[in-house]
Amino acid sequence: MQELGQIIRERRSIRRYEERAVEKEKLTAVLEAGRWAPSWGNSQCWEIIVVQEKELKEKLSGTLTKKNPATLTVMDAPVVLAMCSESKKSGYYNGQQITRYQDWLLYDLGLASQNVCLAAHDLGLGTVIVGAFDHGLVEKILGIPDGYQVVSLIPMGYPAHAPSAPKRRELTSFVHYDNF
Ligand SMILES: Cc1cc2nc3c(=O)[nH]c(=O)nc-3n(C[C@H](O)[C@H](O)[C@H](O)COP(=O)(O)O)c2cc1C
Repeated sequence: MQELGQIIRERRSIRRYEERAVEKEKLTAVLEAGRWAPSWGNSQCWEIIVVQEKELKEKLSGTLTKKNPATLTVMDAPVVLAMCSESKKSGYYNGQQITRYQDWLLYDLGLASQNVCLAAHDLGLGTVIVGAFDHGLVEKILGIPDGYQVVSLIPMGYPAHAPSAPKRRELTSFVHYDNF
């Protein structure tokens, strides 16, 4: 177990994995972390498909945008989590959207995804959130029913590289006190 600040700072997007399988207990612990994410009104609109079949991962890999650096990652990772969501749950009250942002599903899925990625890192596993792909095609491949959609793919496995951290903006460039 590492300190939370260190886990947050040292998690990196991992795009190459060892062939080694992810243990079932670790996979469950990662999914459990996703389960405890906060969500709009505790709506928990997420659905997660655990993809492990080689053929399916190959098909998913084919949906990524041209030159996406995670194309081989999706094909070769031992596990790919398809982070999906039910529409019209998050940000709705009695079936009505109640804010200018309409469906808050992307927000809630982002929170669950971050929990997943941090928990994985804490267990020695690497992940990368992948958002640039043909969502409609993935929904067909994975049989996602009407009223639900795929938001992101998260390949996961034991890291085969240790990338350095991409630069972050300084606090002084985006933190405002009292006024923008
Ligand atoms: C919503 C979202 C979508 C992303 N989509 C992709 C993607 O399609 N392909 C990819 O290789 N990385 C993708 N990334 C990973 C980012 O490039 C990465 O998080 C960023 O460069 C910061 O690097 P770090 O995660 O190592 O800190 C995505 C990240 C997020 C949060």
